[in-house]
Amino acid sequence: MKLAMIRATLHLLLELGEDAAFGVKMYLSLLSAKAKCLTQTEGSGMKISRVWAMPSKWTFTVKPIAELLGRYVGDGQGWADPFAGENSPAELTNDIEGRGARYQMDALEFLKDRTFVTGVIFDPPYSVEQCLRRYTPKFKGTAGRAEYWARCKDEIARIVQPGGLTISFCWDSTGIGKKRGFEIEEILLVCHGACHNDTIVTVERHVKSVLVAPKPNDIIGEKE
Ligand SMILES: C[S@@+](CC[C@H](N)C(=O)[O-])C[C@H]1O[C@@H](n2cnc3c(N)ncnc32)[C@H](O)[C@@H]1O
Repeated sequence: MKLAMIRATLHLLLELGEDAAFGVKMYLSLLSAKAKCLTQTEGSGMKISRVWAMPSKWTFTVKPIAELLGRYVGDGQGWADPFAGENSPAELTNDIEGRGARYQMDALEFLKDRTFVTGVIFDPPYSVEQCLRRYTPKFKGTAGRAEYWARCKDEIARIVQPGGLTISFCWDSTGIGKKRGFEIEEILLVCHGACHNDTIVTVERHVKSVLVAPKPNDIIGEKE
């Protein structure tokens, strides 16, 4: 059946001559463009792409990540980075180990001290084990816990100006999240090969201010 169809199509092409050949060429180039697009989906305003790069404990030295930061952060004016490490382009940098950052505090305390910022870069250790083994023994690896990130994200939602951006790095694409008023604009998957987790970069825009209720531990004042 398939062979018969191919034969009939070839026959038609021979009869139609050059115009048909041009048509087929266009069709084939459309097909190959569609194949290339498999790694870049643009739908409902969200761009998703996937690249390969060597891993590094200093995330921002990874070339496609440095390029993405260059596109969104520019000269870093008005940006804050609570886990700055050694390579942050943000103006307001913080790292518990110093590492040349402007502030040397716990990231959550640093965020609580901020008011309005243009954007936040959020690149904490991705697990407790990673925190202890590769970055710092301080606070028993708390910075690699999802509960700790959630409290940081509440502060980020409070300080990022309406229309401002966040760029989160993790092994998941949760980002700051819809519930906190953020909408994903771009996801970059950086594959590091079979023995490593991907680094997932999630770029979000603050589209809606949401009041975040303080947790019992955050309430300042005398306890009864
Ligand atoms: C994934 S690294 C950031 C790397 C950085 N983006 C770069 O490319 O240079 C995480 C950083 O968080 C810092 N850190 C760990 N726990 C912290 C905490 N509780 N408060 C602030 N910084 C912390 C570590 O010292 C480490 O430099």
